[in-house]
Amino acid sequence: MIKPLKIGKYEVKYPLIQGGMGVRISGGSLAGHVAKCGGVGLVAAAGIALNSGFYKGDNYVQADLDGFKAELEKAYGIAPDGVIGVNVMVALSDYELLVEAAIEGGAKVIVCGAGLPLTLPGITAHAPDVALVPIVSSARAAHLIAKKWEKGYGRLPDAVVVEDPDTAGGHLGEKLENIGTGEYDQYATVREVKEFFRAEYGRDIPVIAAGGIWDRADLLQALAEGADGVQMASRFVPTVECDASPEFKQAYLDCCREDIGLIMSPAGLPGRAILRNQESIVLYDEMNATGCTTACLKKCSYRESGERFCIVKALDRAQRGDVETGLVFCGSNAWKADRLTSVREIFDELFGSMAAEEAA
Ligand SMILES: Cc1cc2nc3c(=O)[nH]c(=O)nc-3n(C[C@H](O)[C@H](O)[C@H](O)COP(=O)(O)O)c2cc1C
Repeated sequence: MIKPLKIGKYEVKYPLIQGGMGVRISGGSLAGHVAKCGGVGLVAAAGIALNSGFYKGDNYVQADLDGFKAELEKAYGIAPDGVIGVNVMVALSDYELLVEAAIEGGAKVIVCGAGLPLTLPGITAHAPDVALVPIVSSARAAHLIAKKWEKGYGRLPDAVVVEDPDTAGGHLGEKLENIGTGEYDQYATVREVKEFFRAEYGRDIPVIAAGGIWDRADLLQALAEGADGVQMASRFVPTVECDASPEFKQAYLDCCREDIGLIMSPAGLPGRAILRNQESIVLYDEMNATGCTTACLKKCSYRESGERFCIVKALDRAQRGDVETGLVFCGSNAWKADRLTSVREIFDELFGSMAAEEAA
């Protein structure tokens, strides 16, 4: 029942993509170890400059590009033959430059969400072997992308991630008022997207379910419901290999179901996070107000009107260990984390003896 996953020219033994987690939660270590275990490991681009060692306070874009490539190199150091890719949010100001840096850094797969990557095949035309994977939350968004890519570039996605706004972590591709209403059906959307590509183009495009997938039962359900694979993010946070600080991982271990909720991000999108410290996040920016120094997002109400707080710095503080004034993004199931584990243990649990035997 569990089959390998083929994305474009690349195949992984296990149908699992480790979701990109910005601001260095999924850097080279996590991505490399996931790839080494037989999944697709993703280095996330968002805010990677800040804690990179390349950032000097006034060179955000260059530090982003240098930091991104350095993490890809680190990942390949761990898994030289692994399928290592990137996650680049379309909402980032330097989105196109980051896509180019990913190609230069040897990314095999480019996953793009937080906006529709309508021009991605154009930006990557010189690297046709790199697999292109949009993240959508609706079949309508998949239609729009497919039509634009096919007409403009003669290309279709190599896979599509369907991300459930009711459960996924980080920025979400749905209006705040539509989240948690009970209307959204994750697997109906997966099947709709799958069927669209079959009916419209006669193609069997892998469709990956993301959001709320935690254990083997969730994985098997996703596959039984028609997904070709899963994208999992929160489950990989409390692992020794995850690039976040011990305090960030501990916040997952300490949180309970009621702590997890939605915030409105200055990026104009809702986001799911641990909500224990909302006032301290805003207070920090009020007390240390330096204004926007990164211009990291194309659209940002903090940069434009000083509204609320700087999201990239709040996420970065948490990544570095200040979970009191930092923002901890997480999926709805993060409360299930009860101990620090390892990437290998997660693969063993998900894929049973198959993964365990290979590790031996
Ligand atoms: C800490 C954190 C950071 C995230 N950052 C990003 C990101 O930078 N770009 C993105 O497209 N998705 C991001 N996500 C979403 C994940 O890649 C993934 O699709 C989603 O969280 C899946 O749900 P799960 O966490 O329940 O497994 C993030 C999620 C978390 C938990």
